[in-house]
Amino acid sequence: MTATTTTRATATPVVAADGRRTLRSWHDEVRALHAAGRTGEAIDLLGRLTEAVPSEPRLRHGLVALLRADGRAVDADRLAVELDPNDAGAWCRLSRHARCTQDLDLFVEASLGWEAARPGDPTVAHFAAIARQIRDGHTHARPEAGYIAELFDHYADRFEGHLAKLGYRGPDVMADLVADLIGDGELRADSTLADLGCGTGLVGDRLRDATPWNGHLTGVDLSPRMLDHAAARTFDSRPVYDAVAEADFVDYLDTVPTGLDAVVAADAFIYVGDLRPVFAATARALRPGGWLVATLERLAPGDTAATTANGFRADLSGRYLHDDDWVERELLTAGFDVVVVEPMSVRREGHRPTPGSVVVAHLPRHAP
Ligand SMILES: C[S@@+](CC[C@H](N)C(=O)[O-])C[C@H]1O[C@@H](n2cnc3c(N)ncnc32)[C@H](O)[C@@H]1O
Repeated sequence: MTATTTTRATATPVVAADGRRTLRSWHDEVRALHAAGRTGEAIDLLGRLTEAVPSEPRLRHGLVALLRADGRAVDADRLAVELDPNDAGAWCRLSRHARCTQDLDLFVEASLGWEAARPGDPTVAHFAAIARQIRDGHTHARPEAGYIAELFDHYADRFEGHLAKLGYRGPDVMADLVADLIGDGELRADSTLADLGCGTGLVGDRLRDATPWNGHLTGVDLSPRMLDHAAARTFDSRPVYDAVAEADFVDYLDTVPTGLDAVVAADAFIYVGDLRPVFAATARALRPGGWLVATLERLAPGDTAATTANGFRADLSGRYLHDDDWVERELLTAGFDVVVVEPMSVRREGHRPTPGSVVVAHLPRHAP
């Protein structure tokens, strides 16, 4: 990898054979050009200096700084990791840039470089695993819990404002479906619900506000700061959530003491690839005849993962896309009898609706 610097073929040699100009005097000229606002020329000159005197790392560091000052962050970071492969910050920025520009080659290189520079970090490990998925076709089943907690703890105070800009309507979709189940006599108004990946509590709020449901609600989330918001949320002077649990979906479902009537999960299962353990744990935690209502991001038909046994893959966004047919099959395998998986977008990305699906699944009333 080399920095994008232009070398003029007719340019004066950096250090003349008779040694008349010292490196310092050239360096002063670079500074003077930069100070005069002629940063592009300063970069050209410093680029030639670094090529002429490759043994002098300070020149390259100076070039990194100049490229950054000139707004050429990617060139600067490329050169920075050439100079120091342990520069985790530069690898991180390159990986993020590659995600924005969908540059798969750069994403793979930068994410694996980032992992080598910062081993053991759950966020880095997640993106490195996605890089290996792209490069080698490895399955990346789910991120470590630490990635989710860190991501959403940082995001918690901005979360709702950001989602409003994306036209997010997951909570409305959940509320409509729960209201329909109550209207159809499938759920009692005082039934017991768990909201998996409750975040700041938008779903609970909507359920209390927009449906006849008034039962017991537990919010489950891995992010303590998201849960703080959910726990503080009130409706009609009473807490929206009767209980909150800081836990992974499966850990919570495996320890829930009584049979739940329904489990809702809006925009939360998109952080798990292999949902089979979640489906199995949900089936165990629900009472006979209980319901699961969830949203997913949808894997496009023809996407390579849809043709494999997996039926899911991690996206450069860090979230997972799932194949509708795979989801339906795995819910039936987990013991659900009626399963509906339908296309439905719950938010936008850029100016386009993010392809999504809504899942409604029912457990048999009696053991088969
Ligand atoms: C995009 S937010 C959605 C929040 C909320 N459901 C809503 O609709 O506003 C996803 C939430 O799921 C949580 N989450 C993701 N994976 C999780 C897991 N395996 N166990 C528990 N919570 C998880 C995150 O911490 C985050 O708060």
